[in-house]
Amino acid sequence: MAKDALGSGRRLAAEVRPRFESVNQPSPLTHDLKGNPNVQISTQPTALDWDRWYEEGRNTRIVTEIESQNFRTRVGAAEGMTVLDVACGTGGWTRQLARWGMNVTGLDFSAFAIGAARRGGSANGLIRYEQHDVDAAGSPDWMEPGSVDIVSVRCGIAFLDRPLFLRVAGRLLRPSTGALYVMTLISEDEQQHAHMRGLSENEVAELGYGWASCAAYSLGPYRCVVLRGPAN
Ligand SMILES: C[S@@+](CC[C@H](N)C(=O)[O-])C[C@H]1O[C@@H](n2cnc3c(N)ncnc32)[C@H](O)[C@@H]1O
Repeated sequence: MAKDALGSGRRLAAEVRPRFESVNQPSPLTHDLKGNPNVQISTQPTALDWDRWYEEGRNTRIVTEIESQNFRTRVGAAEGMTVLDVACGTGGWTRQLARWGMNVTGLDFSAFAIGAARRGGSANGLIRYEQHDVDAAGSPDWMEPGSVDIVSVRCGIAFLDRPLFLRVAGRLLRPSTGALYVMTLISEDEQQHAHMRGLSENEVAELGYGWASCAAYSLGPYRCVVLRGPAN
């Protein structure tokens, strides 16, 4: 497995180059928050903006087989593990995590997304969803430090307060074995569409600073990063 030390400043190896399945994705140029068409804006969408976005029938990239296989192999998914899926949206990825027998908590601050996720089922009690603003409140109070095997954030990190989120994830993960999984769109464009944000290559590289190990791979226009050995 070709791994790339993100902290080294080298470009990431395009290790996995599947055909990118462009499904269910809104155009990067759709409308601004006032409904004006074809305008790129850089403000962070609020929970209500996300509600409206989901209400319009939009969603993120559907979970693909290659994405799941890579996660399973590289991050490790074992029955009984405890997983936190941050910015879970309508729960497509959360449900995939539960299919592997893991106990998953899905957090999202959009009431609409959490409602839709709940309607998708709890996978025989393996999934618990909470409407929760990670930027405002960190992790839920009931989650014990060092108790989580995997923190996952799929297509969500560009919307979060990254330093805060990385501290929260590091505190929750089991110290030696816990893994933080980040899947993000790559975008070098500072003027990004509100709901289609990504990180630049430099921002992706910075995610690994201070972690004991850091591996990354590409999935089409996305980077997946696996961090272990939390910094704090
Ligand atoms: C692009 S969607 C990704 C959803 C899902 N992870 C997926 O892969 O389909 C980004 C999600 O981040 C959520 N989000 C943004 N800021 C958040 C915050 N501060 N706390 C919790 N969720 C947040 C939004 O509500 C939205 O559902």
